[in-house]
Amino acid sequence: MAFSTSPRPALQPRFIQHKKEAFWFYQLVSVAYDQIFKPQHWNEDMRDDALEPTDLRDPELKVVDVGGGTGFATLGIIKSIHPKNVTILDQSPHQLAKAKQREALKECTIIEGDAEDLPFPTDSVDRYVSAGSIEYWPDPQRGIKEAYRVLKPEGLACIIGPVYPTFWLSCFFADLWMLFPKEEEYIEWFEKAGFKDVKLKRIGPNWYRGARRFGLVIGCSVTGVKRGSGDSPLQLGPKAEDVNKPVNPFVFLLRFILGTIAAAYYVLVPIYMWVMDKIVPEGQAF
Ligand SMILES: C[S@@+](CC[C@H](N)C(=O)[O-])C[C@H]1O[C@@H](n2cnc3c(N)ncnc32)[C@H](O)[C@@H]1O
Repeated sequence: MAFSTSPRPALQPRFIQHKKEAFWFYQLVSVAYDQIFKPQHWNEDMRDDALEPTDLRDPELKVVDVGGGTGFATLGIIKSIHPKNVTILDQSPHQLAKAKQREALKECTIIEGDAEDLPFPTDSVDRYVSAGSIEYWPDPQRGIKEAYRVLKPEGLACIIGPVYPTFWLSCFFADLWMLFPKEEEYIEWFEKAGFKDVKLKRIGPNWYRGARRFGLVIGCSVTGVKRGSGDSPLQLGPKAEDVNKPVNPFVFLLRFILGTIAAAYYVLVPIYMWVMDKIVPEGQAF
């Protein structure tokens, strides 16, 4: 796979990859998430493409949508699953408030919670879905281990997320802003958590024409099947981040502003790609 292999430890949270920063970031972003930010990176075609490997054919399957936000991925899930069997969890009450306003999601259970510490019993759900949230988790391996724990044996997890760019300027901003995992990192995290049949499917807006070097805020859908009952065989130490620990407000503000500026680059990239799609003749890559 044509991805850069520069050393880039996942456990070194970038701006907005801290839970408190992500919390405030989504207080800001939730105002225009569905109207402005989401359609650039994450549209209905991509959603259906990304959810396809999750095998959601049986309406009675019990599904959790972790980092479910305003419920956009959930709307894809309830195309086949009965809403009463779906739980949306998110750490942002502002995002969840938008989900609660959607008539179609009225029968879903909507709860606040942390992806790295799920309030669900072991072996309790058939499908675990998380779309566009892993990039904010300070410890993605822990979140994937949680996905494994809560699934029933032979249950399936699907994590949809960004891919790391190869273009130097995109790498610079990706390293500043939040986590852009490499494809091989996703696979490694799934396998370490204990999943079998781990598969990665590439996704992206159609106007990208498959180009991936600028990085994709939603670029792949990774699935894995739980092997047997119980917790993940992976042993981890205590959580990387204590959200109750006080933070220096000046450091917090500076990190928040820098992270938001870096995020702005990834608002411009899809606009650039959209323009390129209009001017570069069909069949040619850019
Ligand atoms: C880009 S939005 C994706 C929302 C939704 N899944 C969708 O498809 O549009 C990312 C969401 O992840 C949530 N999030 C970030 N970190 C989280 C965590 N540790 N636990 C739960 N949710 C988290 C954010 O609050 C935000 O709503």
